[in-house]
Amino acid sequence: MEFFELAHRQRAYRFLEPDPVPEELIEQILDVATKAPSAQNTQPWEFIVVQDPAVRGRLADHTRHLWESFARDYSRPDVDTYQWSHTDEWASGAFARAPVVIVVCGDTRAMDAALLGSSIFPAVQNILLAALALGLGSLMSTLPIVSAREAREILDLPEHLLPMATVPIGRPSRRLGPPRRIPFADKTHRDRHGVPWREG
Ligand SMILES: Cc1cc2nc3c(=O)[nH]c(=O)nc-3n(C[C@H](O)[C@H](O)[C@H](O)COP(=O)(O)O)c2cc1C
Repeated sequence: MEFFELAHRQRAYRFLEPDPVPEELIEQILDVATKAPSAQNTQPWEFIVVQDPAVRGRLADHTRHLWESFARDYSRPDVDTYQWSHTDEWASGAFARAPVVIVVCGDTRAMDAALLGSSIFPAVQNILLAALALGLGSLMSTLPIVSAREAREILDLPEHLLPMATVPIGRPSRRLGPPRRIPFADKTHRDRHGVPWREG
């Protein structure tokens, strides 16, 4: 798939087949993740690739607990009912079936934790697009690491690594259409805020 087709098809794939993803594909994905830009080329990312069912199970149990204990009530079904009900289904069970979960961590020795996101999320976006290019589905998710302490404990992370995203990857078990997004012109101003990109 060429780039523009990929970008027009990238979606949150929460429902994945449990069969393993070949390691060559995981390596191809990680290889392009590390081609992403970062401030001063610090490359502050480290990846934990979780395939062990015991570790995946602990992450999934922890995520279910976070969802049930606060996130289900905290998140707003009125914003996007479809996304909310799918997240409910995902956190309550589907996440546990993902064959691979890449946990993307940021190295707080490279820069202040408050600045890390801007040097980590471009790599995450490369992961999402690379997975789709290889015929796999993936999901950017932060619920599993919203409490860094438990995630650190499950993954044996040293203190200087901050878990910043979890990306389950696998063969999609449901087909998804193109993303529903507000057109760019409704979000874009010409030269100054308030001057629409397109007149009329
Ligand atoms: C920062 C961030 C955190 C997210 N965390 C979760 C999550 O914990 N669980 C989940 O099911 N989806 C999560 N998502 C996925 C979003 O809900 C999804 O990308 C968005 O609703 C668009 O979905 P679509 O591509 O299917 O249209 C997250 C996305 C982002 C960018």
